[in-house]
Amino acid sequence: MSASNLRRELEQARGTIRLMQDELEETNRGLVALTVELEKRVEARTAELRLTQEELEKTNSELLHLTLELEDRVAERTAQLQSKNEEVKTMSQQLWQAAKLATMGELAASIAHELNNPLATVSLRIESLLELCSPVDPQHHTLLIIQQEVERMASLIANLLQFSRRGTSRVSTLNLADEIEKTLELIQYLLRDHNIQVVQELASNDLFISADRQKLRQLFLNLFTNASDAMPQGGTLTIRGMITQAALSGAAAEPRADALSMVVIEIADTGIGIAAENLPRLGEAFFTTKPVGKGTGLGLAICHRIVQEHKGSLDILSEVNHGTTIRVVLPVRSEAGGGFLDES
Ligand SMILES: Nc1ncnc2c1ncn2[C@@H]1O[C@H](COP(=O)(O)OP(=O)(O)O)[C@@H](O)[C@H]1O
Ligand SMILES: [Mg+2]
Repeated sequence: MSASNLRRELEQARGTIRLMQDELEETNRGLVALTVELEKRVEARTAELRLTQEELEKTNSELLHLTLELEDRVAERTAQLQSKNEEVKTMSQQLWQAAKLATMGELAASIAHELNNPLATVSLRIESLLELCSPVDPQHHTLLIIQQEVERMASLIANLLQFSRRGTSRVSTLNLADEIEKTLELIQYLLRDHNIQVVQELASNDLFISADRQKLRQLFLNLFTNASDAMPQGGTLTIRGMITQAALSGAAAEPRADALSMVVIEIADTGIGIAAENLPRLGEAFFTTKPVGKGTGLGLAICHRIVQEHKGSLDILSEVNHGTTIRVVLPVRSEAGGGFLDES
């Protein structure tokens, strides 16, 4: 090969190399551009992903929060349901008690009714025996005692019958002292068993009120038995009665003729008293602190209703371990004398 040929080929090869170099540079530039573009996209995507992750984390924590809240609510609701369940259970127990009591009451009434006739016979026979017996005869005294005891039984039965009798309320003018006495007679044995002394402090023996006799006695009976229950170790049951003038007309020096006179009756015991937290619940039917089988929780609810029907009021004052005073205020005998009670 000649020198000129060689030079030409060398020139050619150089040209090819330059071309290839150019192409390579071109490709390189393209690659750099691509890399930059790719990096940009990756960055954008990363930012997007980061945002999504943050959102996910937020949602997650919110969900966790909600779950906890829900769990709390479920627990709370379950507890509520459980206590409601308990309430329903005791309530049905008490209802059963009340039903049993009602049956017992009817039974007692029918027995009292049955006893009434033979007792009347006994009473009549004793009377004739007493007529035949001379007062100096030693048997005379015995017969008198029998007569007294029979009378006591008869009055007890009459009271029992009166309690069980139902029907329209009928208001009449009643002597407070008599009604208290008759009710006390009914539970004499209970008071004696509990070693309870009864003190009566009536402002007068002629305190008259307008009331339904059965209901008034039922009111007293409930309050006396509550007082007796509160004094299992004995104590004093004080019954006070006085007249008060309801403040209708301002400063009247003399009681006005049209002023509404009320009778205040206080039944005070020296018993266990009532815990402050129980005071607001005392009007509730079925509220009792007494063991199952002993209390029905109906007594005070009935008392409240009776007092309301008579347009009166009932207040409870109590101090734990010192005793309880129930203050009942009822209107004094109305001019009309009788009539029907407001039974709404
Ligand atoms: N004189 C009282 N002394 C103490 N607690 C009383 C007295 N009277 C009523 N209570 C309370 O009020 C509750 C409700 O009384 P009550 O309605 O008569 O129902 P019960 O006598 O059947 O329990 C009683 O269980 C008792 O806790
Ligand atoms: Mg009671």
